[in-house]
Amino acid sequence: ESFDPSIPPRKLAGRNLAAIAEYIKKCEKVVFMVGAGISTAAGIPDFRSPETGLYSNLARLELPRPEAVFDICYFREDPRPFYALAQELWPGKYKPTLTHIFMRMFSTHSKLLRVFTQNIDTLELAAGIPREQIVFAHGSFAGQHCIECKKEYDRVELEDHVRKAEPAFCECGGLVKPDITFFGEALPAEFHESLDLVEEADLVVVMGSSLSVYPFAALPQRVLDDTPRLLINMEKVGEIGSRREDVVWLGECDDGVRELAENLGWWEEMEAIWKES
Ligand code: APR
Repeated sequence: ESFDPSIPPRKLAGRNLAAIAEYIKKCEKVVFMVGAGISTAAGIPDFRSPETGLYSNLARLELPRPEAVFDICYFREDPRPFYALAQELWPGKYKPTLTHIFMRMFSTHSKLLRVFTQNIDTLELAAGIPREQIVFAHGSFAGQHCIECKKEYDRVELEDHVRKAEPAFCECGGLVKPDITFFGEALPAEFHESLDLVEEADLVVVMGSSLSVYPFAALPQRVLDDTPRLLINMEKVGEIGSRREDVVWLGECDDGVRELAENLGWWEEMEAIWKES
């Protein structure tokens, strides 16, 4: 590029993982934006990958369309498909992946500002990331309420319904549902309250998401122009790659994360945590 004094110098020495690793050494406010692709290695299917994605495997539930399983109007009509799925997704059956543990390392090294996750599997918590450093944009199984009178139910009561894949009813007659954000419902307040943090980031890392569901999908565009954005994903998504400080790394997130961890000298520690988890 011809020298143009009005353009600030690049923060990254190159558009690759080695340059990002060097830059991470100086970071203190890293923001992650993640989706189902970071949990596929844990054995939890994502939603939209062809063949393996959840949405191509819900045929047995005879849904009008795959997303109906998370649609609040459909749930009121027929809650059984969701309860059948909840039985498969119920936390506790899966362990965090190397990618979850990589994000925890940023917290351990005082480099983590926030993890914005779309996932409901709570593997971020299982990996040891402090709750206050996580934004569950689509809620999670952590709590459950009646969708009509909002009465709170405790998890154990709901668990045996889920185990039998049976809907749970409130005494008011309403259906009880885990606090997962369904299509047609508002996102949790913590999502809207945390949006300004995106502009404070010194690095943004997007992993394992098709960026196809709004408003979450708009998060990467809130990042300031001169803040590097790294995409680690099987495919290009959103408009990441369009800016001069963007780095796009296509492949399995656990592989991308391993390369970064080795450059940072974090790999041995991560592997040990992963083995004991
Ligand atoms: N490594 C890297 N990328 C992966 C991996 C992997 N091991 N596995 C899958 N991916 C990528 C896929 O290529 C895809 O781009 O992760 C992305 C997963 O996209 P989706 O299945 O659409 O999942 P997500 O983006 O989280 O969906 C968003 O949709 O149904 C709603 O509320 C639900 O939170 C969910 C939202």
